[in-house]
Amino acid sequence: MAEVVQKVLDVLLRSESPYLLFFLAIFLPGTCICAWRWIHQRKPSPIARSDHKKSGIKNEVPVITPLRDFSWQTTEPLQLRPFRGKEKYNLTMAIENLDPSELIQMDNTYEDRIKKRKSILDKHHDIVVATNEKSSKDIRIRTAVSELYTFVLGTYLPTRYPGMFRISHGAGNPSKTFENFVTGAKWPTRLAERTPTIQALEILTQTVDEEFFILLPDLSAPVDNPKYILQAYATCFPSGFNTSEKLGLRLADIHGPVPGYADKLERSMDRFFAKIDVGKFVKRVNWGVTTETDLFAAFGSMYASQNSDPQTEQVISPENLKVDQTVLRCERQTLHRLPQSRALVFAFHTYTYPLQQIKDEGMGEELATAIEGLKKGNIPNIYAYKRGDIWGQAVTQFLKS
Ligand SMILES: *[C@@H]1O[C@H](CO)[C@@H](O)[C@H](O)[C@H]1NC(C)=O
Ligand SMILES: *[C@@H]1O[C@H](CO)[C@@H](O)[C@H](O)[C@H]1NC(C)=O
Repeated sequence: MAEVVQKVLDVLLRSESPYLLFFLAIFLPGTCICAWRWIHQRKPSPIARSDHKKSGIKNEVPVITPLRDFSWQTTEPLQLRPFRGKEKYNLTMAIENLDPSELIQMDNTYEDRIKKRKSILDKHHDIVVATNEKSSKDIRIRTAVSELYTFVLGTYLPTRYPGMFRISHGAGNPSKTFENFVTGAKWPTRLAERTPTIQALEILTQTVDEEFFILLPDLSAPVDNPKYILQAYATCFPSGFNTSEKLGLRLADIHGPVPGYADKLERSMDRFFAKIDVGKFVKRVNWGVTTETDLFAAFGSMYASQNSDPQTEQVISPENLKVDQTVLRCERQTLHRLPQSRALVFAFHTYTYPLQQIKDEGMGEELATAIEGLKKGNIPNIYAYKRGDIWGQAVTQFLKS
């Protein structure tokens, strides 16, 4: 293990590629930490894994604890401050185990976010949802999407948030209906045979404020060297990329080819993904700063204005910084494996916090230090990748003022 980590670190330290850095920033820390945890802890998952092995049962459902008195209207959004204590941006951004009950968070932004999601779905349908099904025989993708759909609508939401969602059984009708008390929507909990797969993704998009990437192993890859491919998605709030361009790509290619290094890195990332067992849920938080950027940011750069061409973007001067449109943008990312299709579901929820708020909380200095720390860790190019070149000086000056 140490040898693999060492090799990857070697590659990392020599690299100039922003794609590589992105990939490393997202996945390498997880790979190392999870591999380490996996070796040293092997904590039992919420699902009795030994039973699973003994009986060979595959369709285990995680235990979801209900929040009976939960009120979404009075629940503030999570306040994530992942930059705290980060004087240097090191490869130690932890991937943490996640209680499956906490997979999807609800708060007082729910209704507005869902409205926004619906309008973005209508306006940018193919960027928001797509599947890579080549023919109706291609049942793997449909099976995975349908499993996620039924888990979220049929099990997770009505169990976790009984005050917001309910399952009703029609009289004499064996099929069940999911009811959303907030939006008034009603949907079947299972995809009917004639319903196109894409519809499940459309419904997910307007039911939860989460972006979903569904990954399946490439059947043509050798068993000892699994490769994961993005086969379906529902992403309303992509941050600086057009998800449609990523469909059908292997993990390593999602962020562009990295000459000479792709193979090694691809392997470590795919191995990390391959080791996520059914019943294991993990999470992490990604952060950046955006200026004049909508939640839907499929064009331009996540980290600077979407109205400008990233190639020719001008450095923002302190006096030109639009403070009221500058936010700390955090993604709460989760990863888990569906028990039956064995597809991996990578999901994230986007939180934004006005820069002024961070400053008012007295954390301006700390955020400024973390921004400058991007340059000081063992992957200094992450600063340019996050487009710190464009906004960094103006933002840190504001935070320190
Ligand atoms: C970050 O990495 C540098 C260089 O590898 C190391 O010297 C430093 O101790 C690390 N800091 C933390 C907090 O891990
Ligand atoms: C997004 O990507 C798709 C697939 O490559 C392409 O057809 C579409 O034009 C892109 N949309 C934008 C707005 O870039």
